[in-house]
Amino acid sequence: MKFFIDTANLDEIKEAYDLGVLDGVTTNPSLMAKEGISGSENITAHYKAICGIVDNNVSAEVIATDFENIVKEGKELAKIDDKIVVKVPMIKDGVKAIKYFTSEGIRTNCTLVFSPGQAILAAKAGASYLSPFIGRLDDISHDGLALIEQIVEIYDNYGFTTEILAASVRHTMHLVQCAEIGADVVTCPLKVITGLLNHPLTDIGLEKFLADHKKVNG
Ligand code: E4P
Repeated sequence: MKFFIDTANLDEIKEAYDLGVLDGVTTNPSLMAKEGISGSENITAHYKAICGIVDNNVSAEVIATDFENIVKEGKELAKIDDKIVVKVPMIKDGVKAIKYFTSEGIRTNCTLVFSPGQAILAAKAGASYLSPFIGRLDDISHDGLALIEQIVEIYDNYGFTTEILAASVRHTMHLVQCAEIGADVVTCPLKVITGLLNHPLTDIGLEKFLADHKKVNG
């Protein structure tokens, strides 16, 4: 299972990378705005900085919503670094653009996916990654994890190679359940990754080991 961090914050990306378990980064226009990154030069420089930290898989999202401009923008993003994966929304022109990028050898992440039908379309277009947003489905009383299960089954039925990238992951149990179901990738905030470390028995056990060691070693 791959771990991506869902942020545009360089310190958080460094911290996750230093843990030694990070396989990539996902960003979106909201996350870039949260860091105050605006203007095409600054946006490009920020993606370069992210690519300078991690080994691969940096999702950079297009803003355009029509085929020609998605292709133009996606090509510019892909030129920034070989690590860039062009993130394209699940809309008609987005699907066409994913098909085009695939034929050009440009990797894509199809985003804003909320149904199995959308997942089939993205896979048929050749998306490298598919981002179903499980937290946002849970927010409206739909079962986000059930969607991941459905997509895993459908992709297995046909041997689709598109990797299922569970997104909008809100807590550690989301991540663990995605692992049980067989999602290929999970993208989540830093606190979800570091949250996996926590167990009170680990803390109690370590405290006891260190205290016992101290008793005889000073
Ligand atoms: C995925 O690529 C998105 O950036 C992200 O996971 C959305 O998460 P949110 O629903 O917490 O905004």
